[in-house]
Amino acid sequence: MLHMAARMGMLGTETAFEVLARANALAAEGRSIINLGIGQPDFPTPEHIVEAGRKALADGHHGYTAANGIPPLRAAVAADIFRRHRIEVSPDLVLVVPGAKVTMFFAILMFGEPGAEILYPNPGFPIYESVIRFSGATPVPMPLYESAGFSFRADEVLAKITPRTRLMIINSPANPTGGVVPRHELDRLVAGLERHPQVAVLSDEIYGEILYDGAEHVSLLGYPSLRDRLILLDGWSKTYAMTGWRLGYAVWPEALIRHAERLAINCHSCVNAAAQFAGIAALEGPREPVARMVAAFAERRKMVVAALDGLPGFRCANPGGAFYTFPNITGTGFDARTLQAELLEKAGVATIAGTSFGEFGEGYLRFSYANSREAIAEAIERIRNLLGNLPSR
Ligand SMILES: Cc1ncc(COP(=O)(O)O)c(C=O)c1O
Repeated sequence: MLHMAARMGMLGTETAFEVLARANALAAEGRSIINLGIGQPDFPTPEHIVEAGRKALADGHHGYTAANGIPPLRAAVAADIFRRHRIEVSPDLVLVVPGAKVTMFFAILMFGEPGAEILYPNPGFPIYESVIRFSGATPVPMPLYESAGFSFRADEVLAKITPRTRLMIINSPANPTGGVVPRHELDRLVAGLERHPQVAVLSDEIYGEILYDGAEHVSLLGYPSLRDRLILLDGWSKTYAMTGWRLGYAVWPEALIRHAERLAINCHSCVNAAAQFAGIAALEGPREPVARMVAAFAERRKMVVAALDGLPGFRCANPGGAFYTFPNITGTGFDARTLQAELLEKAGVATIAGTSFGEFGEGYLRFSYANSREAIAEAIERIRNLLGNLPSR
């Protein structure tokens, strides 16, 4: 009998991968499937970035690198942060990791243990809650409100802080809602956090460059009172369409960077060397490919929001960022998981039930518009037909 650690029973998962597996199985049976469940850009990595990776391999960069990342990459990260936010960050505080998710895992493991509480957005990226439970800590949800553009309410969040609170996770622009937390709400939150200096903050800003209609991304790096306890999570996956390269970074506070580095040495030693060179090309190269991708998302977003909002029983807010919409489907009479299954099995449209992102996601479905306009239009048509044919509830 194998005897695994009890904590293995605490790990959750990302339903997106399960939906993808079911969608692939249906496609293998010959069904036509449109995947609006995916969480990655449907664009290739820009060619100059791919070329930099190829060149690094040709140049012989085949060995381990420094655990925290090659110096020119960490310098490029610091320069990019200055370009975007006019904020100075020391490259010594940058830890390059194999995908932004790793920063999440490290930060939560660093603070989570039985008796500790960790605040996280709900509905939110499912790995937050999963790893909090895995660490033994108690997950404390911060509800996000459709009526507030899927932001949290700072006063409500601050009221949830107890002497056991160790870490607060913030994600804006957000997965799964596309919501962007407005500056005034962050101002309020940070002002309140000044009364709780024991609470570290993990700010997941991976969608920070995917914004629409002039929505403003406010980096928590801009708040001096947080700098000595802020872990900024970011990376290349979404902005540069590099999910498969497994490359991300975090800016850690001085007091934590050595611990984070030690976790890296214990876990993965360093990041794939060629990917790191590709990462430099991404940050230092032309911005047009990013602008083009975001412009394409913006166009699709308009179309998908209007189309979903017009479906019977659907109500779709206009999200300010990322490439997701999170329509309210309570008017259909279905719960999220049932509608997700109906759409996939009967209409061949893959979406993700809001409950995959936490209990406050009930009544919503996540649609990714990282797919072509034609595919999105066809998916909406299929859903409209299906809803018309389903027995009313
Ligand atoms: C909110 C959020 N943070 C982090 C990640 C992980 O990014 P990476 O692929 O770089 O690990 C994702 C990916 O879906 C995400 O949605």
